[in-house]
Amino acid sequence: MGGGIVTALDRLNLEVEEGAFFGIVGRSGSGKSTLLNLLGGLDTPSSGSVEIGGTLITDADTDTLARYRREKVGFIFQQFNLIPSMTALQNVELPLVFAGVAPAVRRRRAEELLEKVALGPRSGHRPTELSGGEQQRVAIARAMANRPAILLADEPTGNLDSATAGSVMDLLRRTNEEGQTILLVTHERPLADSCCRRVVELRDGRIVFDSAAVAALPETPR
Ligand SMILES: Nc1ncnc2c1ncn2[C@@H]1O[C@H](COP(=O)(O)OP(=O)(O)O)[C@@H](O)[C@H]1O
Ligand SMILES: [Mg+2]
Repeated sequence: MGGGIVTALDRLNLEVEEGAFFGIVGRSGSGKSTLLNLLGGLDTPSSGSVEIGGTLITDADTDTLARYRREKVGFIFQQFNLIPSMTALQNVELPLVFAGVAPAVRRRRAEELLEKVALGPRSGHRPTELSGGEQQRVAIARAMANRPAILLADEPTGNLDSATAGSVMDLLRRTNEEGQTILLVTHERPLADSCCRRVVELRDGRIVFDSAAVAALPETPR
């Protein structure tokens, strides 16, 4: 930036198991969003590689990468990022439109997803007519529309009060229990500790803590 080079991630080496509820914590600017964007194929590293389920996405051509983003990953953001002119139902249907799913089928799937996040009766409402927690539940339903293998959540409760945040986290927890791999980014360590089976902490683009490494340490002899 401005002629200077920002090293957002530095010699990072990480392996995430299928079905994990994986937490990435760290202060603002530590590289969390950059890591998530690399995993989601939204950004490419200047060196190194990202492999998902045996496919090197860092080597993939544009079409393969577009297909990867459409079919394999779902994104949830702090700002929800719903399309304001569309109803909840249309927002959830949108990834299915891009995937070429027939109208009747995608409508039914979107309705089911909204039922699942307890928003069935609000499906005709636009984002401005929904609370923050409701908007985030719509965003989760949208992220799940194409049954992605991986759910990437970047500070999903950052704009919610604690009670509403709790219900969004419960929803993610249930989704993970059904087999969904989830990577959760948060600057709140207790939030990650409360739901994630493994937590890594980033500082200046490097992993400075890994709960799996701590668990693997031999017990200190007394
Ligand atoms: N588009 C960008 N251009 C230049 N530097 C960036 C850009 N986005 C983020 N950064 C820098 O990269 C580092 C990591 O940022 P980010 O991944 O957004 O951190 P976090 O999500 O943990 O707050 C920070 O130093 C940030 O200033
Ligand atoms: Mg961030």
